Parts: sequence; C-alpha cells; structure tokens
Amino acid sequence: MRSSFVDKFFIHGGNRLNGTIEIQTSKNAVLPILSASIMASSPVTIEKVPDILDCDNMLRILDKLGAKINVANSNVTIDPRTIGDIKIDCKLSRTMRSSVFLLGAMLARFDNACISMPGGCNIGNRPIDIHIDAFKKLGVRVEQEGDEIHFRVEKFCPTKIKLKIPSVGATENIIEFACLRRGKTTILNPAREPEIVDLCNFLASMGAKIYGAGSKKITIYGVDRLDGIRYKPISDRIVAGTIMCATAMCGGDVTLLNAIPEHNHSLIKKLIKMGCQIKSNSDIIHIRSDSRLNSISKLSTGYYPKFPTDLQSMILALSTTASGRTSIKENIFSNRFNTANELKSLCANIDIISSSNVIVNGVKELHGSEVNSQDLRGGASLVLAGLVAKGETIVNNVHYIDRGYEYLENSLSKLGADIKRIR
Ligand code: EPU
Repeated sequence: MRSSFVDKFFIHGGNRLNGTIEIQTSKNAVLPILSASIMASSPVTIEKVPDILDCDNMLRILDKLGAKINVANSNVTIDPRTIGDIKIDCKLSRTMRSSVFLLGAMLARFDNACISMPGGCNIGNRPIDIHIDAFKKLGVRVEQEGDEIHFRVEKFCPTKIKLKIPSVGATENIIEFACLRRGKTTILNPAREPEIVDLCNFLASMGAKIYGAGSKKITIYGVDRLDGIRYKPISDRIVAGTIMCATAMCGGDVTLLNAIPEHNHSLIKKLIKMGCQIKSNSDIIHIRSDSRLNSISKLSTGYYPKFPTDLQSMILALSTTASGRTSIKENIFSNRFNTANELKSLCANIDIISSSNVIVNGVKELHGSEVNSQDLRGGASLVLAGLVAKGETIVNNVHYIDRGYEYLENSLSKLGADIKRIR
C-alpha cells in the first residue's frame, strides 16, 4: 500500500451509491493469522491479503525477524524457517498494536520474545495486562526494562485461564502459545469474535487441536508441530458494515459480494430499524436505502455478538442526518468519540456527554468542511459524512484509514461517489 502522511480525500457530497462491490479480507482475521504462520514447520500461503498499512507493517515485522516473504498478486507466502531474531522491531511495534499478537506465536516457537510497548489507534488506553497475566499463568517470565518487555518461557504450565474481559488479542495469544505446547489449556470467557474462529480454523488446518472457538469456553490440546498450508481468511465484517452504512446514509442500491451476513447481524438489525431494506444469502448482502433514515434512539457497543465498537463511528455518522435523537454509548474503548468534534465542524448536532457517551440530534443536512481523521474507524466515518455533506469536504490524515481499508476511495468511486485522493 502506498500511503503517505500528507494524503487527503477530497469529497463532493450528494451522490447516491449504486452497484456491486467485493468485500476485502478481514484485517483483524489476517493479522493474527500472519503472525501465527511463523509457528509452521514449512511455508504458509495466505490468500487475498488486503493491501492495507497494518498488513504492510506486519509483513515488515516478520521480514525483520528473518522470515522469507513472497508476495504474488495478493497471495503472501511466509517461510518461517529462516527466522533468527526474537526481538520485534521497536519502531514497527510502536506503530501498530498487532505486534502484540505475535507474542503467543513467538513464545510457542522460540521460548522468547521481546517487544516495545505497542502502539495503535488513538482510541483510548490499551493496556496489555490480560496478555501478561495469562502468559505468567502459563509459565512465562515477564520482565520490563525501560520501554521493552521481555518474555521467556520458564516451564509451560497448562491450566485454566479465566479472562476478566473477553479480550480478542489475549484470546488469540493464549491459543497460539498453547497449541504448540504439550498439555491441555482452557480459556474461560474468551473473545467470541468471528476472527477468533477463523484463527482457530487456520491453526486446525495446520494440525492444531482446538475446541469451542466462538463459544464461552475454548480448549486447546497442544501438538508437537504445525504444518504449512494454504488458507483464505474470512471477509471483513467492518468494511462490509462501512459500505452498508455509506449506502444507508447516501441512499442507493448496493450489492456486497464476499460478505458474511451473520457476522453483521447486529448492524443489519439496526439498519432495518432505520428504514433500509436488506436481503442476504450465504455470502451476499443487498442493501437499499431510499429515504431519510430514522434514528435508532439508542446504541450501545459490546463484545461479539453485541454491536461492534469498530462500527460505532459509522452509526455516529449515520445518526447525524437521521431524523430524531440517538444516544450512543461506547463500552469497549475509553476514547472513541474524538470524531464527534470533527463531525460537528460539518454542522452535525452532537452533545458530548462524556468520553463514553454522546447524544446526536439528527440534522437535515451536513455542510462540507476540512476535517481530520483521528483513528481508523473514525476516519472512515468522516468520509461517510463527507459523502452526504453539501459542497466539498476535505478529510486529512488518510493514513489512518489506509491502516484497514484497501483504497476506500476506489470502492466508493466505483459505487458512484465523488471522492479523490490528493497527495
Ligand atoms: N484490555 C485490557 N487489557 C488487556 C487487553 C485489553 O484492559 O490486556 C481492554 C482494552 O483496553 C479494551 C478491551 O479490553 O477496552 C477490549 O480489547 P481487546 O483486547 O479485545 O482488543 P484488541 O485485541 O486490542 C481487537 C481489534 C480491534 C477491535 C477490538 C475489539 C485487532 C487487530 N484489533 O483489538 O480492532 O476494536 O479487538 O473488538 O484484531 C479496528 O479494527 O479498528 C480495531 C481497533
């Protein structure tokens, strides 16, 4: 992905969206899968890896560790046999949270790992205490030296781990670590997101023995080796959700191919309530929106299968022009309403009640202005608002959006939006 800090989107709002679009592979599935590929005893090929900044960075981290990486079209082959380093590049690990997802795989494979305190989107405090507690319970010594954290397996102790929060990343780390260590490990209160199930399907195809992914208890029986395979991860439910919300907001008639309707169940219910017509079958979603949306009164984010935090920003944008009042409560991250102020400069009427609660009073129209993306999903929601705003909207800091959306401007232009990237 070629993206630069100076990239901006110029948008002329007002066009309806019509047509068909194929949804990219899931960022949050592919990142842990790329990291888990280093546990294989032979090369692994991941199909349709999306051309996004977070994947670029993950591949750069793997490359720096010594893995051989070959990219052919969008298929990425990783040969982990040449890995010689156990220290994850500091600069890269600060740029993305997903470096944390490498820990389980590194410990499984090398007994050692070292990271800098990870970075990521500016969406609030993102500690890694649950990861560290779980590793300690499994027999890993964890030591902090300045900004670096060192992890070393002393003696693997298979056990039952009850997570205080169903953390996606911690669940993935425990699974990765335990699946290549002898013994039975149980995770109680694990994350149940579709991306966890996909990671487990990937590991199971390599020979891992994991039971209960997607349920409230996951059991892992360690095996001695995992074999290289070819795998195609699931499609991105957040990108599909973003396109659905864009269609709902702009009006139009869009068919999403390679989408998994059941992964977007909570969003689909809300959009129908707002007045959209949605039909779906196993991997296609069709959405039609013809008139001003109704507000949904209340939205509260939660762990899967509840409403995803990653789509909260899209509902925030939608609510700005829906008829009526919407109260939005963010329950996962502490700082995911930075975008509300940016939306206000497009003439949205939003009361920021606290860092986790806003009230939106829908207005008839937004007006174009210059706004700044503050994080990945918030940035995408500003694009949605720009698509309906009167006049021109400039969205700065597109590099945030490029972390997770494969050329969002191309997808939207294909559907009839007037949006251009300027550098
Ligand atoms: N948490 C802790 N301690 C920890 C780990 C998490 O307190 O050790 C807290 C977090 O601060 C947060 C909550 O637990 O309040 C949930 O965090 P979780 O660990 O589940 O999130 P994550 O694994 O860091 C993944 C996705 C996020 C997505 C969340 C929640 C990836 C690469 N990232 O993050 O995706 O929002 O799960 O579903 O899978 C995005 O794509 O925009 C994005 C931020």
